[in-house]
Amino acid sequence: MCGIVGYLGKRDVTRFLIEGLHRLEYRGYDSAGIAVGKDGQISVRKKTGRVGELAALVDTSPVSGTVGIGHTRWATHGEPNDSNSHPHIGGDGSLVLVHNGVIENYSTLKQQLSQLGYRFESETDTEVVAHLMAHHLAEQVKLGSDPTDVETCLAAIELTLKKLKGTYGVAVLFRDCPDTLIAARNGSPLVLGIGDDEFFIASDSSPLIGYTDEVVYLADHEIAVLNAEGMQVIHRDSGRQAPNIQTLNQVSADIDLGEYEHYMLKEIFEQPTTIENAMRGRLNYDEATAIFGGLNLSSQQLRQIDRIVLTACGTSWHAALVGEYLIEEFARIPVEVEYASELRYRNPPMSDQTMVFAITQSGETADTLAAMKECKRKGHTTMAICNVVGSTIAREADGGIYLHAGPEIGVASTKAFTSQVTVLTLLALYLGRMRHLSYSAGQNIIRKLKDIPKQVEKALECHEAVKTIAEKYASMNNFLYLGRLYNFPVALEGALKLKEISYIHAEGYPAAEMKHGPIALVDEQTPSVFIVPRCGIYPKVISNLQEVKARKGPVIAIACEGDDRVAELADDVIYVPDVDECLQPLVASIPLQLLAYHIAILRDCNVDRPRNLAKSVTVE
Ligand code: F6R
Repeated sequence: MCGIVGYLGKRDVTRFLIEGLHRLEYRGYDSAGIAVGKDGQISVRKKTGRVGELAALVDTSPVSGTVGIGHTRWATHGEPNDSNSHPHIGGDGSLVLVHNGVIENYSTLKQQLSQLGYRFESETDTEVVAHLMAHHLAEQVKLGSDPTDVETCLAAIELTLKKLKGTYGVAVLFRDCPDTLIAARNGSPLVLGIGDDEFFIASDSSPLIGYTDEVVYLADHEIAVLNAEGMQVIHRDSGRQAPNIQTLNQVSADIDLGEYEHYMLKEIFEQPTTIENAMRGRLNYDEATAIFGGLNLSSQQLRQIDRIVLTACGTSWHAALVGEYLIEEFARIPVEVEYASELRYRNPPMSDQTMVFAITQSGETADTLAAMKECKRKGHTTMAICNVVGSTIAREADGGIYLHAGPEIGVASTKAFTSQVTVLTLLALYLGRMRHLSYSAGQNIIRKLKDIPKQVEKALECHEAVKTIAEKYASMNNFLYLGRLYNFPVALEGALKLKEISYIHAEGYPAAEMKHGPIALVDEQTPSVFIVPRCGIYPKVISNLQEVKARKGPVIAIACEGDDRVAELADDVIYVPDVDECLQPLVASIPLQLLAYHIAILRDCNVDRPRNLAKSVTVE
């Protein structure tokens, strides 16, 4: 939610800022803006709409300088318009800032500042921060501090941050203290990049790729001061810190579109590789188990777990549901799947030996982070299953498992889902082998898992067939997605994909639940997508399918290769390879992702930047 960039150095600052905002656009695309400082003057350009529109504005009205900040917005307070766009100016122009997060006490602060004479041009919570900081700066100066001294600016920031309730990642330029860039964080991510006589700031590492591989992940309550003297990191409680410099292991190809028209399609087609990467180095065939380096727990501690809570949001929550089925089946450990947004405020009974896994692609989702912290507070071991290295959740967890899926840029999650399911399968195997799962059963799972990347490659061959089917159904306005057992979460995920990128109403259900209500929706204009793999309850799913056909509902079936019976019953069939029941989600989700993609394209929707959404949901 909202992306921030900043730069200080000798490069063309505007170019870096605009390019960085393009890379962060998945975090929000309601409006964008930059502020650039040169010779004590700060120039602002901002515009409603996407970064491309800001770039066009900057082309016609150029700015140049040696230091700058930029922002791409996902609106929280105030509609998307030019005045609500960031950067925001504080006071009489003594500073300019960009902000990612939500200031919960902004209306009280706004009232106080209005009484002091500050005039507001926007409806945002951010402008309150800008004026408050300018107010504290002015107070410092009145008391005799030098506005050109960085310590004065720092004092104004510290006094301001103390008064804020909520979350922020901010980057600030001070008019009278030029060539200094200051950033602070609490709850919203910020990464600092270190180059040769230059510094970068970004909400995540993607804008830094190709510029530097030395990064510092700012922690909550830290302020970073960047200028010719170097980088200083100051923590609210513990004072000056030696920055913890880490190496960024990403290359430009990870964030380039390559031959694809959209990131979503690229990421769908990356899945044979990303699934392989999620398993790499983690399979031990001789011991018939999985290997995890990052759980930081002894076998003894892992054996004592008597319950697991999987908590997540959205697509990651769907992956958690598959995980529940897998862990209960392989390891016989009771599993609860909790929406993080609910768990953070609930107080479910949890034994001392309950282990919590937060599942998240971004590692920044506010609800997931809060749920995890709540569980930690109560003494539970909390692990992260996460894609983004160095993200807040990855760092807050007691241990965890990275997905290694590479940057997921399309707003609709695809490859992260299958990587999460892969990692959860390995986790189920690992915990199972410490308990009741036999050696041969373990080896059998590993054999089949190793074959999955090839089977996903084969599943992707349905692409053309899916495109044709999409043409037939793209004009329909309601869909049902139905599956059972391991494929029930796949049905939920298929419906979510269609909803979020094509704005079509879609509902996922366990296929047999349909007759308890949703069947009333079935008519000739409401297609049902049935996931009907060959499995123990195949005849039951077929019966559910026939119930829909009997009511004239069109049926698109996802079935295993060679299943002629389904072809006789369904209107359209998409074939996927026949893999073990517990691994079906990894192949069955492929045609559903492609179906959503093609329907969205046919409806002229922006698949990579669907309306109202943002990739990283850092607000509650
Ligand atoms: C859907 C989607 C969202 C995310 C959800 C959680 O395609 O991407 O539903 O899955 O916002 O995000 P993470 O996994 O980053 O915690």
